[in-house]
Amino acid sequence: MRSAKIVGVGSYVPPRILTNKDLEKMIDTTNKWIMERTGIRERHIADDKTAASDIGFEAAKRALKDARVKPEELDLIIVATITADMPFPSTACLIQDRLGAKKAAAFDLEAACSGFIYGLSIARGFIASEEYNTVLVIASEVLSKITDWEDRDTCVLFGDGAGAAVLKPAKKGQGILSTYLRADGGNWNLLWVPAGGSRIPTTRDSVDKRLHYMKMEGNKVFKIAVQSMTAAAIEGLKRAEVRIEDLSLLIAHQANLRIINAVAKRLSLPPEKVFINLDRYGNTSAASIPLALDEAVKRGRIKRGDLIILVAFGGGFTWASSVIRWERISLKGYLSRFGHRLTSLTTRHQPNE
Ligand code: ACO
Repeated sequence: MRSAKIVGVGSYVPPRILTNKDLEKMIDTTNKWIMERTGIRERHIADDKTAASDIGFEAAKRALKDARVKPEELDLIIVATITADMPFPSTACLIQDRLGAKKAAAFDLEAACSGFIYGLSIARGFIASEEYNTVLVIASEVLSKITDWEDRDTCVLFGDGAGAAVLKPAKKGQGILSTYLRADGGNWNLLWVPAGGSRIPTTRDSVDKRLHYMKMEGNKVFKIAVQSMTAAAIEGLKRAEVRIEDLSLLIAHQANLRIINAVAKRLSLPPEKVFINLDRYGNTSAASIPLALDEAVKRGRIKRGDLIILVAFGGGFTWASSVIRWERISLKGYLSRFGHRLTSLTTRHQPNE
């Protein structure tokens, strides 16, 4: 069976930044508490008119440009999101139309923060089976719309953003070496939005009770996240038949610095092999991994031939990993690594470039 590789990545965040200092004026919290408990300094927040398809579209355009792939070449578009524009039609269909991806099939998938890796796995399967050749995986979240801005337990954690990747066939042993997906619905109500579906449809009463906002028992989620992400990484490496020492970089779901550090410690990975950007974006659910992947590539943290691992955990619960042999490097990444005089321009990645 043939393999699949990522041939382009892109990301986009809404321009407005909400800092911890801003939050101090909105709720009973402090910059110190948020930094110490999460590592988050600021996050990007969409305006009232912006939906998941808007920022997902921007990320998709950047990934297609990076891959030098035209929208008409796409066979399939998958959008991972828990903040779709509307119950139906899918956000993937809305983006398919805006891109002009005339021959592409399109659907959404919902696996919370693990959604991007779930999407990669599905895309890889379609490419391996030779049903499709060119697949666009987008993860787009406007979590600010399901965040209760009066609940200090949750509102300091989340941000908005989108990331995307274009996949094409690769020779066996190249590109995506493994994907590992898991779920356990037994803890579904530790992290959830109670209303707005068929169980509790949106009513005046559900809105008055604030049931259309995200609820989380953070403490319990924290412990399970560390265990599950560590287990997912170990299983992903086993399936890819590679060793932890061979890894160049861990890109974990950017929920909480303490969670990522705990996972890295259990895997014996040194800090220089762990990518962090949650300080500037917060937890963007499914979008966090492609947002980090794009930044890592553009900053030259990933070079051709490197072995990287993506690891995620989210509501459901779901968890997942993917081991990838990186097959390409962007021009910006090349310049960043090899000391070109433009290096200074690449030190802080701007997803919106
Ligand atoms: N500011 C100040 N104090 C606060 C805040 C705040 N924003 N939020 C909570 N506190 C208080 C609590 O009330 C509590 O006070 P008490 O001791 O007087 O009762 C105290 O701080 C400690 O609260 P904990 O919840 O125990 O704090 P914890 O160290 O667990 O950190 C956090 C909370 C950051 C939410 C952490 O548990 C976490 O990151 N959990 C996992 C999140 C995650 O990974 N989610 C999965 C993916 S998200 C998705 O799928 C969409």
